Amino acid sequence: MCRPDHFDVRYAINPWMDPTKGADRALALAQWETLRATFEGHGHRVEVVPGEPDLPDMVFAANSGLIVGDRVMSARFTHAERTAEGPAYHRWFAERGFAEVVAAREINEGEGDFVLVGERFLAATGFRSSPAAHREVERYFGIPVVSLELVDPRFYHLDTVLMVLGAGEIAYYPPAFSTESQKVLADLFPDAVRASAADAEVLGLNGVSDGYHVYFSGRATKLAAQLTERGYEPVGLDLSELLKAGGSVKCCTLEVH
Ligand code: ARG
Repeated sequence: MCRPDHFDVRYAINPWMDPTKGADRALALAQWETLRATFEGHGHRVEVVPGEPDLPDMVFAANSGLIVGDRVMSARFTHAERTAEGPAYHRWFAERGFAEVVAAREINEGEGDFVLVGERFLAATGFRSSPAAHREVERYFGIPVVSLELVDPRFYHLDTVLMVLGAGEIAYYPPAFSTESQKVLADLFPDAVRASAADAEVLGLNGVSDGYHVYFSGRATKLAAQLTERGYEPVGLDLSELLKAGGSVKCCTLEVH
């Protein structure tokens, strides 16, 4: 995770962002600290990457890259406003003792667009990461990548509309995907939790699961009920200030697989 010490809404690179309104950094920090404490309180180890001045979106650590075992691929961002986050995170990864850290050559926004479900990655294109990045990830990690296409600009990253719950189980919002991708998901995950529009619109699917507890927006009440019914324990959080930049729980969290 990356502390939002420099968080702000200063530019608009997705429909959630309104630079004329900005953001309340003190509130963002308090909400972020609660998220971190919640993870730690449930026994999860959190490492904190220092944020950098002039990189107001750096708090969204999910976009920093991909970590599987002892291999890391750091991100390459779509927008000029976030480009410098790639090398900043790369330097941090390079100092952590991983066997190999490479920088993506193709446009790749890390776990924003790539989610590991069991033995495969699901990866999105449409707004950010490129189809070529899907192939690059497949080659580097030796893990098959299933490509999906996003079609609604409000849901510009895969992790805004698809959440991994546990071994082979996902929750997602079908209308955010092209017709063809909806079919791919329905075939792969016939028993998936299908979220409502209302829950998707508060980024309720932007959550993290440890296989039992599911950490996500407390505003996604129907989703909470759906998860409870499946035997998961929902842990509701309020990240309203970060939502102003188009992010929630998952965006703030890079998982170490
Ligand atoms: N303002 C950021 C952007 O548009 C938000 C990133 C959210 N991260 C995520 N994993 N969906 O790039």
